[in-house]
Amino acid sequence: MAALALLAAAGPARAEVRLAISCGALGIELSLCTEGVARWERATGNRVTIISTPNSSTERLALYHQLLSAGADDVDVLQIDVVWPGILARHLVDLAPHVDDAPARHFPAVVAANTVGGRLLAMPWWTDAGLLYYRADLLEKYGRPPPERWSELAETARIVQAGERAAGNPRMWGYVWQGRAYEGLFCNVLEWLAGYGGGTFVDEAGQVTIANARAAEAFRTARGWIGTISPQGVLNYDEEAARGVFQAGNAVFMRNWPYAWALAQGEGSPVRGRVGVMALPVGTDDGRHAGALGGWNLAVSRYSRHPAEAADLVRHLTGADEQKRRAIQASYNPTIPALYDDPEVLAANPFYGRLRPIFEDAVARPSQVAGRRYSRLSSLVWRATHDIVSRGVPAAPRLERLSAEIARLARRGGWGTEP
Ligand code: GLC
Repeated sequence: MAALALLAAAGPARAEVRLAISCGALGIELSLCTEGVARWERATGNRVTIISTPNSSTERLALYHQLLSAGADDVDVLQIDVVWPGILARHLVDLAPHVDDAPARHFPAVVAANTVGGRLLAMPWWTDAGLLYYRADLLEKYGRPPPERWSELAETARIVQAGERAAGNPRMWGYVWQGRAYEGLFCNVLEWLAGYGGGTFVDEAGQVTIANARAAEAFRTARGWIGTISPQGVLNYDEEAARGVFQAGNAVFMRNWPYAWALAQGEGSPVRGRVGVMALPVGTDDGRHAGALGGWNLAVSRYSRHPAEAADLVRHLTGADEQKRRAIQASYNPTIPALYDDPEVLAANPFYGRLRPIFEDAVARPSQVAGRRYSRLSSLVWRATHDIVSRGVPAAPRLERLSAEIARLARRGGWGTEP
């Protein structure tokens, strides 16, 4: 009895809870997640297992589908893409009762994207917008300004690529981006369309808008890059593949998310101190310099055995301290507007101030209107894009066909979030 009493006195005040969280692993993402989680473990005495997930958003979603449709309790907290709440709604807990007034401190659009049928299904962790990275040293060497238009980008890319190849780097390319048939390609295409005033495939009312002349022009422009300023292999690139080429010093321009900034400028990066970042170009006078709205959020699985503790971990990880640390160490864009005025955050990410309109006004994918059908819509788009951009299928008729395919998808019971 005495020994038992002693043990009880020395033991933790509360029973320890064990949770599992799934995190991404691009660049230093996994170690950032581990550090944030460790702080919560120290504060609460609970333990958390970290589950690393595939880099591709599309493969990550497939993994979550497997786990969640089996009702598995293996993962309590899930890192989910901003386009998934409608897809995963039925597997997630409403966080509103657990997070007090925290949502009011985040960008309203991101909170809205995480709210389905009045339920707050995830808390914003970081936001993303597509950006154009360029080699400032090379543009200076060739006397070229940072490009405002896609045509300018292509011309500069050709000039610098040819010059650098002649000067002894046969591996130099003009422009790298994400062309693989996965979610990242949808984001790239959406940005081309914005720059040509070509719409967003489906408008907010659910009408399919993709069969238009401006969109066709945007696709034709992208087709012209393949094999000229972009390697054929770009059609299989994801974010990390593009970053690998750019960071090794073998590309003039790269389209990527903000996380690539801290890595390109990191110690040991061959391009450190030589990188500029700006809004993506436009195709026409009235096109929009726009980045696709991306970003990741934290949700709690309905099958978790510890939803209250899981929600507390979400509250901690998405709070201002963690978001500030992640922004400074690794340029993950906060979802808390106040942090964009923080001098330490701005010193680490000088482009935050200048590109703030791009972050605040990023172009959303039509995931809210498509609801749980969004992933099928997205894969129709990758297929059509590869047909046009890599197989040479004429753009306008292929977009007509895509439009019919999307309309068919919408007609089967309409768009929506119903299970
Ligand atoms: C980034 C974005 C995410 C997007 C993905 C596509 O991770 O944050 O929203 O779906 O890229 O590859």
